[in-house]
Amino acid sequence: MPRYRRLCQLLLAFVLLSTALAKDITNFCKCSCGQNSTIIEMTKFALTHLPHASQPIDVDTLMPKVCMNCTRLLCGIAEPQLCDGAAVDDEIVPLCFQRDSLQDELIIYGFLLLVVGLLAWAAIRNHAKPVIERLWNQYGYTSIGQ
Ligand SMILES: *[C@@H]1O[C@H](CO)[C@@H](O)[C@H](O)[C@H]1NC(C)=O
Ligand SMILES: *[C@@H]1O[C@H](CO)[C@@H](O)[C@H](O)[C@H]1NC(C)=O
Repeated sequence: MPRYRRLCQLLLAFVLLSTALAKDITNFCKCSCGQNSTIIEMTKFALTHLPHASQPIDVDTLMPKVCMNCTRLLCGIAEPQLCDGAAVDDEIVPLCFQRDSLQDELIIYGFLLLVVGLLAWAAIRNHAKPVIERLWNQYGYTSIGQ
């Protein structure tokens, strides 16, 4: 069944590609305090190049799920002035989010559609072929007969 093998290869390639793309998704930490807010890119490079950091951030202690390090503490270090001038009861609110890359999504959905389409075609192909042929023949004979 060479056709199925090729399909499996394609499926594997798709899985590999999508995990490679998924790894590329960058997390961001949005720190808000009253009207002020700032967005920190949660990458090792960005965290060691923060313009206003009050102290160096030890990126070796970052959690594998870097969103877990999007904390009030991190916000306070990265942007010490964030709450300056804010109301007394305003406090830092951290919020972690991922970049929405439309291009990545389109690629992933495109591949997904392609794979699903090919799988569906492979699945119905053998069943559909005789039916299509019969219909075709019937239609052909009828129009010739007329
Ligand atoms: C990341 O989070 C872990 C667990 O809470 C903590 O031990 C570590 O110091 C944090 N690292 C940074 C850079 O905030
Ligand atoms: C916002 O932050 C700036 C410094 O970045 C500070 O001077 C200002 O007072 C802050 N304002 C509010 C409402 O938090």
